[in-house]
Amino acid sequence: GLPTRVRIHEVGPRDGLQNEKAVVPVEVKAEFIHRLADAGLTTIEATSFVHPAWVPQLADAERLFPLLDDLRDRRLPVLVPNERGLDRALALGAREVAVFASATESFAKANLNRTVEESLRMFAPVVAHAVVEDVPVRGYVSMCFGDPWEGEVPVARVVAVARRLIELGVSELSLGDTIGVATPGQVTALLTALGEAGIPVERIAVHFHDTYGQALSNTLTALRHGVTTVDASAGGLGGCPYAKSATGNLATEDLLWMLEGLGIETGVDLDRLAATSVWLADYLGRPSPSRTVRALHPG
Ligand code: HMG
Ligand code: MG
Repeated sequence: GLPTRVRIHEVGPRDGLQNEKAVVPVEVKAEFIHRLADAGLTTIEATSFVHPAWVPQLADAERLFPLLDDLRDRRLPVLVPNERGLDRALALGAREVAVFASATESFAKANLNRTVEESLRMFAPVVAHAVVEDVPVRGYVSMCFGDPWEGEVPVARVVAVARRLIELGVSELSLGDTIGVATPGQVTALLTALGEAGIPVERIAVHFHDTYGQALSNTLTALRHGVTTVDASAGGLGGCPYAKSATGNLATEDLLWMLEGLGIETGVDLDRLAATSVWLADYLGRPSPSRTVRALHPG
């Protein structure tokens, strides 16, 4: 069966804007996040407290976060790779964070300058400290299905990293198809293996990029498997600067069109969201890649 309600974890301001060539001014980012909240999104990944030279697009996190003070009734998770990042986030009052692991060595090196093992050791004190502060931690696993350097990724590698993150104390796992190559059979295989490893499906979110147009099919497959948290980015913004051939995330509007058709509640207003994506696309100077945004706003 299918769930009656899905929580959308909106990643446009983080995963989307981290990949824009132009640096978007902090006021525009703040307006974007407010518009997303006005459209009914309750979980909005706001920014990252990573090394500013690694992701210059999000180097304004210290200036952005205070502009979101009136949104404290929303969940505004932020990415933190290490203790330095967590300290920066906590100093600004962040109440929810995410660490980001990789199932492959190539991407761990490219994205974190660490081996998989070293990066998990880097996360351990971060998760421990956050838990003490009552700050829930999401644990991403990138390259869950395919990797641009290593090809297809064995399910057992993903399960091993997922278990380690759960042992560290993350409250939620997000399974990343960083370069958007997965197909539904792989999604079923991974979710089945994670279930067999004793990881409850309630703690699993899916994070599909749409490079090969498979993100919606993969999402529907995950919903059928019991997943109820889905990552998406408004207008289909996104990608990862450290993974070649990564394009945007599943567009939130495309997801909403499918969920509304299936009678699954999200609390998000599709028209307001699409208008926001058009507003941002106008600002960025190119159309949204979302089919639903284009259909609702032709021309
Ligand atoms: P490193 O070069 O190994 O850093 O980078 P280090 O630990 O050796 O530290 C070097 C210097 O950086 C030190 O300064 C630190 O204090 C400073 P010094 O003592 O030399 O003056 N530093 C920091 N400064 C500010 N904030 C920090 C920070 N950390 C260290 N947090 C590091 C290692 C992890 C820092 C770097 O690799 C990094 O920042 N990587 C982040 C990459 C990133 O953000 N990628 C995109 C997000 S992941 C993604 O998009 C995938 C996802 O969407 C899921 C999916 O699609 O699969 C989540
Ligand atoms: Mg991503």
